[in-house]
Amino acid sequence: MSTAPTADVNKPLKSLDEWEDFVVQHYPEPMPADGAPKKKPTVGYDPEKKETEFRNYEADARPTVREFYRLNHTFQTHDFARAKKKEFLGLNRMQMGIWEAAEYLNQLVDDSDPDTDMSQLEHLLQTAEQLRRDGQPRWMILTGFVHDLGKILCLWGEPQWAVVGDTFPTGCAYSNKIVFPKFFEANPDFQNAKLQTRNGVYEEGCGLDAVDLSWGHDEYIYHVCKDYLPMEGLYMLRYHSFYPWHREEEYGHLLNDQDRAMLPWVRRFNPYDLYTKSHTKPDAKALRPFYEELIAEFFPAKVRF
Ligand SMILES: [Fe+2]
Ligand SMILES: [Fe+2]
Repeated sequence: MSTAPTADVNKPLKSLDEWEDFVVQHYPEPMPADGAPKKKPTVGYDPEKKETEFRNYEADARPTVREFYRLNHTFQTHDFARAKKKEFLGLNRMQMGIWEAAEYLNQLVDDSDPDTDMSQLEHLLQTAEQLRRDGQPRWMILTGFVHDLGKILCLWGEPQWAVVGDTFPTGCAYSNKIVFPKFFEANPDFQNAKLQTRNGVYEEGCGLDAVDLSWGHDEYIYHVCKDYLPMEGLYMLRYHSFYPWHREEEYGHLLNDQDRAMLPWVRRFNPYDLYTKSHTKPDAKALRPFYEELIAEFFPAKVRF
């Protein structure tokens, strides 16, 4: 496992929103419903290309965001991702109802501006309410409501770089389409030739379930919900931050048929997460009865976290 970071590197971002604001800046337009035009996949990180492929987004990113990605790409090793799964996926920390968990997450106070920035609960409701307005299925509205509950990892002392950030497969070559690819040079896995081949520790077409993505709130909330939501919703939860896949169409060689079938659903969810933030703030008190009823339709009264 990589060197444990000290306290001051745990929170380079003023708020978790800074990461999401960066993602919106990087992908200002929603992906068309039928997917993007096919792009030539790139395999592996090519250090020779780093200068020519240096993108404007890197120059434009806030220093806090840059530092966040530096830490994320440096410390998210294959061993780290696997160790965090062992640590958290026993779900032995708390038992809460889903609404209760959303309120618990809402305690996450950072240095965001309460006048302009959404609280965690507001973001969940806003995502879900837009799904509801668009007449999406009830399970998908609920998926929207729970999708970021995994950020409670921050309340348990996990550093920001181990909770949010675009996720990527560990244990195989990094894609150049992952933002700030040059920061991977500091990742210990980058020096391990076995972990830098196209398939790395995986088999061609093994399916994403067999792949250890960088650890974060997506994988965690997927496990919390996996007995309660349909597969389409579970894919949305588990891969909503996996931009190198659902946006950049990378890592096709690791996918199986099920992943390919589910990709349109992951894409269908993304605009609700990413582009619903500027609208009016939802009224949590007024909306609670609707969501309590919806939660009760799918989840037990207490869920293991
Ligand atoms: Fe998220
Ligand atoms: Fe979100």
